[in-house]
Amino acid sequence: MCGVVGYTGKKPAAPWLLDGLATLEYRGYDSAGIQVISPSGNLHGVKCAGRVATLRERCDSANPVGTCGIGHTRWATHGAPTDKNAHPHTDCSGRIAVVHNGIIENFQELKRELMAAGHTFKSETDTEVIAHLVEDAWAGPAKGDLVAALRNACDRLEGAWAIACVCADVPNQIVVTRKSSPLVVCSTDEGAYVASDVMPLASVASSVLQLQDNDFALLSEDGRVEITNREGEKVEHPETITIDWDASAATLGGYSDFMAKEISEQPEAIERLLTNRLGEHGIEMDELSMSKEELASIDRIYIIACGTSYHVGLIAKSLIEKWAKIPVSCEYASEFNYSDVLVTPHTMCVIITQSGETADTLTAARRMKGMGSTVFAITNVLGSSAARESDGTLYIQAGPEVAVASTKAYTAQMAASVLLALRLAFANGSMSREEVERRYHELEAIPGLIREVLARRWQPRQAAKLFRDKHSALFLGRGVNSTTAYEGALKLKEISYLHAEAYPAGEMKHGPIALLEPGFPVVAIVPADSVHDKTVSNIQESIARGAVVLAVATDGDEAVAKLCQDVLWIPPVENEMLVPLVAVVHLQMLARFVARARGLDVDKPRNLAKSVTVE
Ligand code: G6P
Repeated sequence: MCGVVGYTGKKPAAPWLLDGLATLEYRGYDSAGIQVISPSGNLHGVKCAGRVATLRERCDSANPVGTCGIGHTRWATHGAPTDKNAHPHTDCSGRIAVVHNGIIENFQELKRELMAAGHTFKSETDTEVIAHLVEDAWAGPAKGDLVAALRNACDRLEGAWAIACVCADVPNQIVVTRKSSPLVVCSTDEGAYVASDVMPLASVASSVLQLQDNDFALLSEDGRVEITNREGEKVEHPETITIDWDASAATLGGYSDFMAKEISEQPEAIERLLTNRLGEHGIEMDELSMSKEELASIDRIYIIACGTSYHVGLIAKSLIEKWAKIPVSCEYASEFNYSDVLVTPHTMCVIITQSGETADTLTAARRMKGMGSTVFAITNVLGSSAARESDGTLYIQAGPEVAVASTKAYTAQMAASVLLALRLAFANGSMSREEVERRYHELEAIPGLIREVLARRWQPRQAAKLFRDKHSALFLGRGVNSTTAYEGALKLKEISYLHAEAYPAGEMKHGPIALLEPGFPVVAIVPADSVHDKTVSNIQESIARGAVVLAVATDGDEAVAKLCQDVLWIPPVENEMLVPLVAVVHLQMLARFVARARGLDVDKPRNLAKSVTVE
């Protein structure tokens, strides 16, 4: 969702604030703004609708000078993405400014009350109430103490927040706090920093401090960071996160866009995850923090996730049911939170979340924990809320994923799911050690096969032409590859804005076939597997109605080559359960080429955000 940054120290604040916001832009890019305290002791704000690049241009002419400031990049919730709704928001005096990520659920009631007391509002946002509440506290009980003023304001709030606040009367201080929205701080020789996540801080620090809910941190220009809790007591040992990747991992490194870079990083990401996994337990997964007996007793699993991660969950369900023989429900977190749940004493909950901060997924995990279930997280982000709140966490180690459309996290999470399914299967005796090893070696071959697909990028580039002037497309697949179809369609609509619908191929005749007309694009995933011939029949049904079929098929499949307009070829995959790891790479590249041909920004598709921290 929104990105928050802040800096106070010896250097000019604006350049780092702008760079930090550019790094956090994946969280939202409807509008951006900064507020710096000028040497004359006044707030100097620059903000605008649109991207950080536009804000940079505005700052070039407005030239906000000062060594203490806060910044924000917005994913609009309350109020349209306009200049006036862009953060930071100020109080009536224009001497207090705040930036905020999250939602203030009781803002309407607070706004009414504040307006009745004489406050004047300038925006339609929920955030602005915070500035006015701090104003009241600063004028009254908390005079001179910005931490107390923000604490006082937060006592009135309901909802979720990560807030950074400055006041021109204490020109070198930033006070920050959080509740259910991430926030990290760090202390350096050059000053103190705050950000929504570690990414902007990787260039200035090797470790950061993780704030807990209702912690308040006072950042001072000499680099000091003092953390207190809601009661005002000092937090003695704040959690430290070591940044174990180089800041360059979050740069383009010669690629034209992050999506291209991240697609190409998939083989290495999976290889990292597979390192040192074979052992006496079949697959070694200490991260589970469960004994063999506990694992063996699991009789039901809920997999809960959103978006691309939900698609991983569907594959994980197939893998676990097939190999470990445990019944699995895979649920959209947003739906799960309002449905009935059947928890047995041996139910396990697996949450899959790249960012580890998706609000719906976290709510679901808390609900499951509350009902006595063990919660296991598969995530990419070190120290994320998902990791901190779960009983065990498997980090996929894919490195920072910047493009909003998830690619390398998808395949790495899938590889993690394969490992989990094998671990469970061995623990409960559904699979022998030899079989686990065989499956593991099949998985080990996948990075090599993905490299082969990446080398064939000219194929999706050429096939992208089939989508020129089209408005809609249908993706079909069977078995585990119905999920590949879902993910392929999601990638296409996310970044090319082309309507794309996915269906299990056999279900097409129960409705979607009515869409087909001459020239309608159908993408069929039809690898050499046990359902191949059935899918070929569905391709034939599509062609009979004039559809233009693009297939994803296994090398040497002459029958499919003859039938279809074009084919994206994948090398043979030994175990058909692992085909999705390879086939999806063509569809990721296809979506990217279609989007680029339409002149779109593939990394920052409209209306989307990478980390969705509101329900
Ligand atoms: C957003 C992103 C998607 C992502 C989904 C779930 O919608 O745009 O790419 O799949 O959130 O995110 P998570 O971090 O929980 O995997």
